[in-house]
Amino acid sequence: MKIAIIGTGYVGLTTGVCLADLGHQVVCIDHNPDKVARLKQGISPIFEPGIEDLIKKNLNKNLAFEVEIAPAVKNSEVIFICVNTPPKPNGQADLKYIEKAAREIAQFMNSDYKVIVDKSTVPVRTAEKVKETIMAYATEKTKFDVVSNPEFLREGSAIKDTLNPDRIVIGVDSDQAKEKMLEVYKPLIEKENSIVKIVSVRSAELIKHGANTFLATKISFANLMAETCEAAGADALEVLEAIGLDKRIGHQFLSPGIGFGGSCFPKDIAAYKKTLEILGIDYSFVSAVEEINRRAQENFLHKIEKELWVLDGKQIGILGLAFKPNTDDIRNAPALKIIEKLKNDGAKIKVYDPQAMANVKKLFSDIEYCDNPYLAAQDAEALLICTEWDEFKNLDLAKIKKIMLTPVIFDGRNIFNPQTVRDMGFKYSGIGRP
Ligand code: NAD
Ligand code: UGA
Repeated sequence: MKIAIIGTGYVGLTTGVCLADLGHQVVCIDHNPDKVARLKQGISPIFEPGIEDLIKKNLNKNLAFEVEIAPAVKNSEVIFICVNTPPKPNGQADLKYIEKAAREIAQFMNSDYKVIVDKSTVPVRTAEKVKETIMAYATEKTKFDVVSNPEFLREGSAIKDTLNPDRIVIGVDSDQAKEKMLEVYKPLIEKENSIVKIVSVRSAELIKHGANTFLATKISFANLMAETCEAAGADALEVLEAIGLDKRIGHQFLSPGIGFGGSCFPKDIAAYKKTLEILGIDYSFVSAVEEINRRAQENFLHKIEKELWVLDGKQIGILGLAFKPNTDDIRNAPALKIIEKLKNDGAKIKVYDPQAMANVKKLFSDIEYCDNPYLAAQDAEALLICTEWDEFKNLDLAKIKKIMLTPVIFDGRNIFNPQTVRDMGFKYSGIGRP
């Protein structure tokens, strides 16, 4: 099938590359010429395990990258909109890139039937607006449907999640569009037995906001339990492990830490809150999830202040800047707010991250970027773990202890065993641990 992808960020690039690898003829469009120039050379603009190999494998065969949208729209049967949907200051989803993409698509529609797919995360009833926009701006008589096909991939495992999805949600209101979408996913349905849920367009849009809000709720529940355990003298990991053994609850997304970040949970739950407000439904449940997430970070900072007392002039090492491991994405990364706060209090910051340092360098010029975790720990009065990269789990802690000025670890992701680390002579503070 001939497929166009508008927007080659984490979602568009992954979708385009995977659909090409499954045998479709794919052209990915992005209005950022630098990104497209790099992609044309087989260079991925993002760090995502496996993505560059798949780009190189399919490039110039059934995968192309272009800036110009016109030929892609004219020649494609299915057009995926994968542009960013950032939050407005009031939390509402800013749909200006969706609207712009819809207007651009409209301009180059011809008389061939096309399916326009909203893959970006959008509030319920956005597809209706996309349809109206295309109808308003189309220059030729067009035949098309707008479909909602939300994306559930996680950064760091995007390729795996796309090729082995838990489910594929297709929101369609026409049989013709349904058949086209089933053809798009036919290789996954046949080879991987992927589960497909065919639902209404509005339901599909709500499934996405619902799923992200539920996952964020699980994390905030874990962080609330961590607070409870710290106050009551219990161990949150023991408590959550046993709670998760109930098959109805499960263990995933019950790890307490310094809060969820990333480009999606914070913005998507804020957007869902706005939807509730618009529909006249009480949204205090969602506000509580946000509030606990905010506190998770605040509590971590309080512990550091309590232990170090005065931060002014103190050297602090930070390991992990990305919002989660296996990505270079720093959007809403908890580490950034922590750096900002410690810097404001006069601390001298040294950082290390296996992939995200180039992105952080664009934000902070007054912190020291280290080539390895040991340089970040050198002469530090405290070492903070902000992202649970595997590399940090296997650190030579005896060496770390020797090179730190005072051996104090604040483990924001519970990667170490408290007893082991304390037995080595560290002062150790995890999340929700006694
Ligand atoms: P991103 O910011 O990484 O990428 C968006 C891309 O779209 C950018 O490269 C931008 O240049 C391009 N773009 C914007 N308008 C364009 C236009 N008119 N024409 C051509 N290119 C255009 O965003 P992302 O992280 O890939 O997220 C995209 C959407 O998918 C968002 O709605 C997000 O909520 C959703 N989503 C993201 C993830 C994730 O893990 N990042 C997972 C599921 C869903
Ligand atoms: C999340 C969802 O998991 C995806 O299904 C969804 O498609 C995506 O958002 C999206 O809509 O963009 P992602 O943000 O890539 O994916 O990463 P997650 O693995 O969900 O982690 C999000 C944040 O939660 C990270 O900061 C992570 O550290 C934190 N987290 C996660 C916890 O603090 N505890 C946990 O138990 C799990």
